[in-house]
Amino acid sequence: MIDFHTHILPGIDDGARTPVASFRMLRELKILGFSDVVLTPHFYPDKSSAENFLENRRLAVKKLAEHTGDRTGLPNVYIGCEMHLSEHIFNNTDISKLCIGGGRFLLTELPDTDFFSEVALNAVSKLINDYNVVPVLAHIDRYAFLLKEKNLYRFLEAGCLAQVNFSAFSKFGIKGKILKYIEKGYISALGSDSHYAPVKSDMILKSISLIEKKAGRDKLERVFAKSAKILGISGSYGK
Ligand SMILES: [Fe+2]
Repeated sequence: MIDFHTHILPGIDDGARTPVASFRMLRELKILGFSDVVLTPHFYPDKSSAENFLENRRLAVKKLAEHTGDRTGLPNVYIGCEMHLSEHIFNNTDISKLCIGGGRFLLTELPDTDFFSEVALNAVSKLINDYNVVPVLAHIDRYAFLLKEKNLYRFLEAGCLAQVNFSAFSKFGIKGKILKYIEKGYISALGSDSHYAPVKSDMILKSISLIEKKAGRDKLERVFAKSAKILGISGSYGK
């Protein structure tokens, strides 16, 4: 399984504070069955330059690496960020280093709004067309307007992918819609959005079994297969 959204890197955002906490979170996720974990610290382009963020991230990765040794018993990790969508991002000419593994996929957090926003749609379109980046919309379950299929579809049609948090499946009124999206193949990634240890193991396991039960194991496998493709690996659920 792949956890696509976490705040495990130490001392860089409101997630893990120390490498000890980071190590514990990675170990817990591995025990839950996650073979691969994407590290996605918050990046706010209106508060910090990409250069500053990348330097801080480099130091956090180094700290973690020093603490995890040969990484025995830990999941594979991939370095990315959770970029808050803002016009300030366009002050940068090259944003590929913000993408997962320096590739094309960028976990992108939309501004907190209740309604569909043409401004946000135009901004992600600019990322796609002018920067050759594929925005993976973070925790779409948090946005009421994206729970309307026609709104989500406009973002998908523009070339975005969609990530859902496991916590969505314990929310009445949201889980049904997200399960439908999974059945329809709209979702490319699932994430724990873990910020601290211990990770919410019970909630994560309950969500996974709910998806299996309601949408079917094949649909859950399809989500992990999509995530694996983004990460350039061939692993999928149960392997
Ligand atoms: Fe997050």
